Amino acid sequence: MGGFDNVQLTKSYPKASVFVRRARALVTGKPYYFNRQRVRACAFREINARISFENYIETGTYLGMTTHFLAKTAGTRGARVYSCEINEDHFAIASRTVGDMENVHLHRGSSVDFLASLSPTISKNANFVYLDAHWYEYLPLRDELRVLREWPNTIVMIDDFKVPFDAGFGWDKYDEEREICLPHIADSIGPSLVYFPNYPAQREGIGIARGYCVIAVSTRYTDVLDKIGLLRRFK
Ligand SMILES: C[S@@+](CC[C@H](N)C(=O)[O-])C[C@H]1O[C@@H](n2cnc3c(N)ncnc32)[C@H](O)[C@@H]1O
Repeated sequence: MGGFDNVQLTKSYPKASVFVRRARALVTGKPYYFNRQRVRACAFREINARISFENYIETGTYLGMTTHFLAKTAGTRGARVYSCEINEDHFAIASRTVGDMENVHLHRGSSVDFLASLSPTISKNANFVYLDAHWYEYLPLRDELRVLREWPNTIVMIDDFKVPFDAGFGWDKYDEEREICLPHIADSIGPSLVYFPNYPAQREGIGIARGYCVIAVSTRYTDVLDKIGLLRRFK
């Protein structure tokens, strides 16, 4: 479900759209969140089982599907979800799909300002951050990561990221300057370690695998990530 029709459908039937996507996920085994990546969702579950996250933060809410999943996940442990969207239409739709969930806080605006505004209150908490704000002229990824460098107890997952050793995972590249890949972020992550899928793209299904990386902002969580067989530390 992608593109214009999907947006219109979700706009017209916000709650039903969430319900249908969740039902379809049950039938197909492909999640309605995390870019529909099944094995990635397993990797997330392993991380989530080992770290008592207090907050789940997403940039790029879009229609609220990953937000919904994170809210359900956070709800099992009394945690909160913060998600931010710059596009007025998408924000309005997400407000109707997930805006009424008790532990969800939606923000309209730029992801970098959003993360900076959260810093004073949650930067020291245990946070899971899903960076998924892109599609436009300005790619906020580097600036987002510069804010997150000051969040020491944080795990970051970046969607649509180039997996350097497996081109079977798709990634986003808008031009030479704006490619979601390691060289693009290298100057923004300091000494943080980066992890990639430790399995071939085919496990997600041929032609539909999307890349990602996971970053432990401080060494505190590298021990955790090192134990997750689905992830591989990139040297
Ligand atoms: C790939 S979609 C996000 C999908 C969503 N995270 C999910 O898993 O269902 C990207 C979204 O990021 C938003 N976006 C792009 N640039 C942004 C920015 N600078 N700040 C906040 N949101 C942004 C777009 O409007 C779009 O809705």
